[in-house]
Amino acid sequence: MSDSATGPAIEASGLVKVFGETRAVDGVDLTVPAGTVYGVLGPNGAGKTTVVKMLATLLRPDGGEARVFGHDVRHEADAVRSRVSLTGQYASVDEDLTGLENLILLGRLLGHHKSAARRRAEQLLEAFGLAEAAQKQVKNYSGGMRRRIDIAASILNTPDLLFLDEPTTGLDPRSRNQVWDIVRAVVSRGTTVLLTTQYLDEADQLASRIAVIDRGKVIAEGTKGELKASVGAGSVHLRVRDAAQRPAAERLLARVLDARVQLDPDPVSLTVRVGVRGEHGEEGGEGHGEGIGEGYGERESAAGQASRALAELARAGITVDSFALGQPSLDEVFLALTDRPAVHTTAPAAGRENKEGIPA
Ligand SMILES: Nc1ncnc2c1ncn2[C@@H]1O[C@H](COP(=O)(O)OP(=O)(O)O)[C@@H](O)[C@H]1O
Ligand SMILES: [Mg+2]
Repeated sequence: MSDSATGPAIEASGLVKVFGETRAVDGVDLTVPAGTVYGVLGPNGAGKTTVVKMLATLLRPDGGEARVFGHDVRHEADAVRSRVSLTGQYASVDEDLTGLENLILLGRLLGHHKSAARRRAEQLLEAFGLAEAAQKQVKNYSGGMRRRIDIAASILNTPDLLFLDEPTTGLDPRSRNQVWDIVRAVVSRGTTVLLTTQYLDEADQLASRIAVIDRGKVIAEGTKGELKASVGAGSVHLRVRDAAQRPAAERLLARVLDARVQLDPDPVSLTVRVGVRGEHGEEGGEGHGEGIGEGYGERESAAGQASRALAELARAGITVDSFALGQPSLDEVFLALTDRPAVHTTAPAAGRENKEGIPA
């Protein structure tokens, strides 16, 4: 039963779930390393909750298979359930009870003795910033407090794997930050977390690896660095002094960098992605590596390309007022992967096909 100490927390292959005409989940493979936060990122309706429910044994897959700590979700559902906990739109807290009463009750249901249940409840309320609200009925909690008590309820017994299904959707920035801190604390104590989110920055903040899911399929998977490297090593953002020079700057940058040039809404401003699509950067280290876009080996660095471009602009008599080299955002990653760009782009000068469907 417990010979799963070293394997992945989740191994799923070819998972399928069909609702009538809808293939909600259409052949999903996932490998979630134990002890990490794994992000499943996708828009509304992508199939995130359906994946979570199958992995948590709440829904039976129509195809494929999945193991949680080595246990088959179909045939060993009890063993899976003993290791996992779930937070999301399934909360078990009672609106009419206070926060403290809820946690004590749930602790008792989990088999804790009264004093132990009370101790654990108080400890969690304190840790989650809910000590002052302990005696308030949950129906009087704010959205952020409610989300926190839901998570507290789901970790009364420290689970080996915690599913957090969109834990911060609809929360204000401060409450989101509080939930993020909780997620970090939970994972630091050894729990594996599978987090679904619609927020690119949330996956970026919390997850070591990310699967991007769209219309029931995983369209990209990897470390943050790998995902970003598949889009480009970075972005050069620059402002020319004279808007009339922007078209010339655009042509020059596309030629010199052989890259996409994006015309920003501000008429003097341009953004260029540097680094070649499909080239994978090595992440700088284990876990929460921030070395995005590094490791191009023999290739010219993003900074090298950027300074070459700057020199060419000067030679062409184009005055540049500001210039910045940044890492691509997960937003850009998602747009590149789904081919649904938010902004107009220019095809590279090399005559490569412009995949972005620019409206005529
Ligand atoms: N019980 C259900 N019955 C019918 N369709 C469903 C059901 N649950 C989900 N769906 C559909 O499956 C797709 C994926 O839904 P869901 O997994 O909830 O996506 P997400 O959590 O990413 O927003 C959507 O098109 C949704 O409408
Ligand atoms: Mg959902």
